[in-house]
Amino acid sequence: MNELRVHPDAASLARAAAQHFVTLATAAIAARGQFVVALSGGSTPRATYRLLASDEFAARVDWPRVRVFWGDERCVPPDHSDSNYRMARETLLDEIPIPAENVHRIRGELPPDQAATAYQAELEAVLGAGGRFDLILLGMGEDGHTASLFPGTVALHEQTRWVVAHYVDKLSAWRVTLTPVAINAAAHVTFLVSGAGKAERLREVLDGLHQPDVLPAQIVRPTDGRLLWLADAAAAVHSHPRLPTTPSTPPAPAAG
Ligand code: 6PG
Repeated sequence: MNELRVHPDAASLARAAAQHFVTLATAAIAARGQFVVALSGGSTPRATYRLLASDEFAARVDWPRVRVFWGDERCVPPDHSDSNYRMARETLLDEIPIPAENVHRIRGELPPDQAATAYQAELEAVLGAGGRFDLILLGMGEDGHTASLFPGTVALHEQTRWVVAHYVDKLSAWRVTLTPVAINAAAHVTFLVSGAGKAERLREVLDGLHQPDVLPAQIVRPTDGRLLWLADAAAAVHSHPRLPTTPSTPPAPAAG
């Protein structure tokens, strides 16, 4: 299932995302006793995290039963201004009653391969055999990247590992990222996309106009989960209001 929901502006997008988080957390905790979520970096989710930390939303989540991971991390220490962990800590984690042992950050201060291996082990320990994320939040860059899956990178072709470290030439930097294997195994994958700068790219991704090597966000297709795009009107201005619920399939060959 693949759906686009358009909200009038960035503030209502953040509200919808916070509500979505609460709904999924409540359902997962009722069903399995915990909610395992991967947070996104970038700037778009800040407003959502602040709302989740607010009086209005924070009391609606059973935080001691939430396990927080990240979709990707920059290879910097946790107090660095580029750290995705730091952003989530400042906007959300410091404000809510979540036990420290439920926060599973990617250790960007380690050598990248070591950080990826440690993160993969931590994921396996929490999720167990056959486990998966209840929710992965993602953003999309203007070049179509998501998490730290950038156009033309080998991580897009990873077939087994859930986490890889790779050097991204266009950033001249190392990143640690969940792979498409991990993302597409999730129960829910939700993109938050805001602003006119993303409008063309969003239309291309939703229309499936390129190969994932060119537009990595297109590789996100949960195999047994739900893909939801939450966008504001500026980002969705060229996009269809609703996507088909199933991928189109070629017609069956005529008999005889
Ligand atoms: C990161 C990300 C990345 C981000 C997009 C969109 O660490 O940078 O996780 O994939 O989500 O670049 O970022 P904005 O929300 O800032 O546009």
